[in-house]
Amino acid sequence: MDLFTTPASLRTQCRQWREQGQSIALVPTMGFLHDGHMSLIDHARACADKLVVSVFVNPTQFGPNEDLDRYPRDLPRDLALAEAHGADAVFAPEAGAMYQPDHATWVEVPEMAKGLCGASRPVHFRGVCTVVLKLLNLVQPKVAVFGQKDWQQLAILRRMARDLDLDAELMGMPIFREPDGLAMSSRNVYLTPDERSRVPAIRQGLLLAQRRVAAGERDAEALALMFREHLADTLPDARVDYASFAHPESLAPVARIDAPTLLAVAVFIGKVRLIDNILLEV
Ligand code: PAJ
Repeated sequence: MDLFTTPASLRTQCRQWREQGQSIALVPTMGFLHDGHMSLIDHARACADKLVVSVFVNPTQFGPNEDLDRYPRDLPRDLALAEAHGADAVFAPEAGAMYQPDHATWVEVPEMAKGLCGASRPVHFRGVCTVVLKLLNLVQPKVAVFGQKDWQQLAILRRMARDLDLDAELMGMPIFREPDGLAMSSRNVYLTPDERSRVPAIRQGLLLAQRRVAAGERDAEALALMFREHLADTLPDARVDYASFAHPESLAPVARIDAPTLLAVAVFIGKVRLIDNILLEV
């Protein structure tokens, strides 16, 4: 497995592979790899001849008061994991190699980025779209694999890919969870042991909503209230950033659950912000 730290060297290697007729799969990550990332990597490994994993804590998707500086990092461990799971290349550039000091071009899908996580993270999805388009341009993969944990991110990237005629197929993989239901996240390491033991309540709240829908409840506001009450009971020190219902592809707000609907939530516990979601079927 090779490590690339400059865009030019990665581009040259990927071009060579494509000229040899070899297809490429890409898994973009910010590193500190966990089993959720590994499920994407294992899936991508089987999709193409060559597998590229990027490990880049992209500064442009963090707001001024977010956790860029304390985002967990461990490149040696990430390299070992990527290699053990069959990656052919890891791309781990410094921020200065990805963004020139006078970088001035941005890709955004504003309509889909204003709700859910975008409401409290106004520049986040612009940074995500821009860096993912850069990675897709460098690698020119046949497929790029993402997680449904970040459902809004995947929906926005799919719209970007469609609108800009990108060649790559963007695949979405199910949320990988701890045995107690907590969605795996690099940010889970910030939780204290006491918080960690209680945060599965978030997933329980989503499952409760799903049961209510199965029992006939259709009103999104009533379901959101129920989710908030469930958290107030089980995780009283948590603050719900949002609990929102949206069309799974357009992300347009949904008031009545008459078709498959995304329930997406973000919850602060202490300084840690956790997200999760469920696709409610009727
Ligand atoms: P990061 O948070 O490192 O996640 C990388 C990929 O792993 C994303 O597609 C994310 O949805 C997926 N993922 C994370 N946790 C998961 C879980 N528990 N189950 C399944 N998939 C999971 O998302 C980003 O990085 C960045 O925004 C990025 C796309 C790399 C652009 O910088």
